[in-house]
Amino acid sequence: MKVVVIGSTGTMGALVVNQLGERGADVVEAHRGNGVDAQTGVGLADAVTGADVVVDCLNSLTQSASKAKAFFGTAARNIAEAAKAAGARVVCLSICNAADPAVNRRMGYYQGKAEQEAVYREVLGDRVTFVRTTQWFELGDTLGDQMALGPVAVMPHMVTAPLAASDGAVVIADAALGTAHRGKPVVEVRGPQEMDLLDVARASRTARGLRGAVVPIRFGGKALRDGSLIPDPADVVTPMTLEQWLAAKHA
Ligand SMILES: NC(=O)c1ccc[n+]([C@@H]2O[C@H](COP(=O)([O-])OP(=O)(O)OC[C@H]3O[C@@H](n4cnc5c(N)ncnc54)[C@H](OP(=O)(O)O)[C@@H]3O)[C@@H](O)[C@H]2O)c1
Repeated sequence: MKVVVIGSTGTMGALVVNQLGERGADVVEAHRGNGVDAQTGVGLADAVTGADVVVDCLNSLTQSASKAKAFFGTAARNIAEAAKAAGARVVCLSICNAADPAVNRRMGYYQGKAEQEAVYREVLGDRVTFVRTTQWFELGDTLGDQMALGPVAVMPHMVTAPLAASDGAVVIADAALGTAHRGKPVVEVRGPQEMDLLDVARASRTARGLRGAVVPIRFGGKALRDGSLIPDPADVVTPMTLEQWLAAKHA
């Protein structure tokens, strides 16, 4: 089976490429560095020719609602049109409950993800599957490192059920290859324990030997703190705990 992974050099894209490769898929990697730009459409048609499935692992880091909607909406339309012309299905990586207006009201980035889902549904109907996951342990590091003021990191409380990105990649590969979740429009994925992502950032910084506190800031509205990020029910509860993730990372 030929699977094109768009955003193949990213945190999740690279893990999905490995998963698919290990399971014997014919994997095509696509990102701007190898001539495929999902924004302009350059290189897309060639990349998806002959594909059975296209996996969208794209990302753009912005909290501006207008920029996020423009990025995710434009890329989704270009990828969906190219996949449709090639007769391929799409598996798109998304975020649990981010498309819910009650959750994304103060989260411009999540509004971009809502736009991405809406465009795929409009163009592809039932030929798209959304694998929505909760926040990854890796995001604790990303947010803590991005928002550091000297030794002090700042980030919002995010009450979630985080997972290891590597466990998420298994579910995405299953959906792409049809080994599980066949025909499901949405697959909701969460990690094994509920916790605050801020505590994940603290634990990871301690494990990395970094000094300095992680200080909460108010950002994103109460949906980030009241459990609205956690899918109920979830289709998949992934196995790896924070302790196991930290142990594997620092082995
Ligand atoms: N972090 C989380 O906790 C979490 C949870 C659930 C879902 N997600 C979703 O997971 C997805 C992937 O996130 P990630 O952190 O793995 O991404 P990432 O590490 O930031 O990687 C983004 C990828 O997109 C590519 N890319 C960016 N702009 C492009 C363009 N115009 N054309 C083609 N490729 C482009 C990048 O490669 P080049 O720069 O080389 O083009 C890179 O391969 C996102 O949509 C995010 O919403 C994340």
